[in-house]
Amino acid sequence: MPSLMMSMSSDACPSQFEGKVTVYVAICAIIAASGGLMFGYDVGISGGVTSMDDFLLKFFPLVYERKREVKEDNYCKYDNQGLQLFTSSLYLAAIVSSLCASKICMSYGRKLTMQSASAFFFVGVVFNATAQNLAMLITGRILLGVGVGFANQAVPLFLSEIAPVHIRGGLNILFQLDVTIGILIAGVTNFYAAHIHPWGWRLSLGLAGIPAALLCLGSLLITETPTSLIERDKLSEGLAVLKKIRGTNNVDEEYQEILRASETARRAKQPFRKLMLRSSRPPLVIAVALQFFQQLTGINAIMFYAPVLFQTVGFKSDASLLSSIIMGSVNVLSTVISLVLVDRVGRKLLLLEACLQMFISLFAIGAILVAISHAGKNLDQDAATGVVILVCMFVSSFAWSWGPLGWLIPSETFPLETRTSGYAFAVSSNMLFTFIIAQAFLSMMCRMRAGIFFFFAAWIIVMGVFIALLLPETKNVPIDEMRERVWEQHWYWKRYVDEDEDEDKDEEQSERVESGPDIMPTQSRISYAQL
Ligand code: BGC
Repeated sequence: MPSLMMSMSSDACPSQFEGKVTVYVAICAIIAASGGLMFGYDVGISGGVTSMDDFLLKFFPLVYERKREVKEDNYCKYDNQGLQLFTSSLYLAAIVSSLCASKICMSYGRKLTMQSASAFFFVGVVFNATAQNLAMLITGRILLGVGVGFANQAVPLFLSEIAPVHIRGGLNILFQLDVTIGILIAGVTNFYAAHIHPWGWRLSLGLAGIPAALLCLGSLLITETPTSLIERDKLSEGLAVLKKIRGTNNVDEEYQEILRASETARRAKQPFRKLMLRSSRPPLVIAVALQFFQQLTGINAIMFYAPVLFQTVGFKSDASLLSSIIMGSVNVLSTVISLVLVDRVGRKLLLLEACLQMFISLFAIGAILVAISHAGKNLDQDAATGVVILVCMFVSSFAWSWGPLGWLIPSETFPLETRTSGYAFAVSSNMLFTFIIAQAFLSMMCRMRAGIFFFFAAWIIVMGVFIALLLPETKNVPIDEMRERVWEQHWYWKRYVDEDEDEDKDEEQSERVESGPDIMPTQSRISYAQL
């Protein structure tokens, strides 16, 4: 990636830190981002597998029967709690595991957390691919969920921390790019596996082991982030890594900045408690709201159940799998657009543009389906093409906005002392809302029918207003300067950070009382010059 290799001059880059995008950073970022492949593959694989007859016959015979019942209402044929649990159990496990992962991430580093993710993932894949009964299947999905919770916690943080500030957005979006590639690969795999009887579904579930192996082997080659090393008192190692990833010896200012942030972080001995303070509210509210809204765009109703959804509205089995592949390709390509644009046009503009585009597409899909059902007709060729185009329009706008930015913004807006805990909250709320959608969507579709698209469209208006009023722009702001340059400047959020000094002192005092005299390691006070 030659264009990434240029060294940034200070006028090209608004931050004071010097640094180029070295080959080493690029390699580390590519390897770490493969954590996104694991997540994406799982998002994409379950919809195709649950539409395979062999799979349904083995684990969900009732759904299989209902599917074959010609008279059964189309919108309700997949409405089965067990089937939804197959998809959603992964997210249930990830809700809890991302919170545990935050502790591991903080105490043992981002790298070890990623390695643990791949290990859980691997065992989960074995359970799934060899499943003999529903219990094995769900156990496998739960283990995958633990892996996803670990990976989604560590990877975006890792990427944001190793990235030079001027391309932090782009580098972080590599994670989401891999998520979309994973979804696409899953779509293609399902397309072929559906023709392999009776064990095609085992192949679909088993191939998830490949991204896990990639992350596991790759993570042996990558470095720990300087922030995580310095935060754990490995100062000289942290400094050496910083020089190596920035490709220059002139890293003093950035080093001091990380050192300052980690000293503050060390004083906040209970990051989850600190996170609950009023002063932490701005990034926390933004992080959780982004996850809530990301899922209420309805993206996963489409991602998980695309083949099922396409069949529901009248596509034949192959056509529906093929449409999922087209949709998956649009998802990948549009994420590349985001990668290029995010550090130029900023986060806010991308999110607002997407709201408009998503609203129009969801509304139009709903209108087509309502018109067809009022006319008592089946989906004809023209209407089917229209639906696929509108779904692609929806997916593309999500892919350059809410998809990647839902992960990027929470990874860059918390101060170091609450970064891992705050980010864990974001991951875990993402998983919670994803779980709710995965568990409820097929039943919602059965009850609301085409109205489900209007339901999601209405939420898009709410999120557009939220972004316009409450999301500050973080483009080109160094990760450890968010407080001064973002929150303290924001018309609404500044009242929270302005008032936090007394609160912070109280917090420090109560921590000191609890933990006795200050025993901050002397090593942490060593300055850069002494190293
Ligand atoms: C979301 C997933 C979604 C994926 C689609 C991610 O950012 O968190 O829930 O399935 O994007 O590309």
